[in-house]
Amino acid sequence: MSNPPLCAIADIPDGGSEGFFTETSDGRLLYMVVRTGDAVFVYKNACPHTGMPLDFQPGKFLTKDGSMIQCSTHGAKFQIEDGVCVSGPCMGDRLEAVAFEVRSGDIFLTENK
Ligand code: FES
Repeated sequence: MSNPPLCAIADIPDGGSEGFFTETSDGRLLYMVVRTGDAVFVYKNACPHTGMPLDFQPGKFLTKDGSMIQCSTHGAKFQIEDGVCVSGPCMGDRLEAVAFEVRSGDIFLTENK
């Protein structure tokens, strides 16, 4: 039996982001998805600084110009492509990337733990 998709690519505006979660026996796991054109990036929604979710407003993960992921708590900025923190209190750390595959426009996590 396969898991349901996390979301559809069409759920994420081009140049935008959205937050999702899955329920597991260990509790709820939070994810962020960022889309730039046909490319999508999935990370755990946990800041490497304190482990807090990054979005103050649900699904709002990006800087105003949409060029970086930003943590709403202390303002750390992360590169969209690899999750590396380039400014803020956790500089040099990175967001935890989540493996996924796209099938028929839907995003399926391939690791869900
Ligand atoms: S919790 Fe994200 S920068 Fe501090």
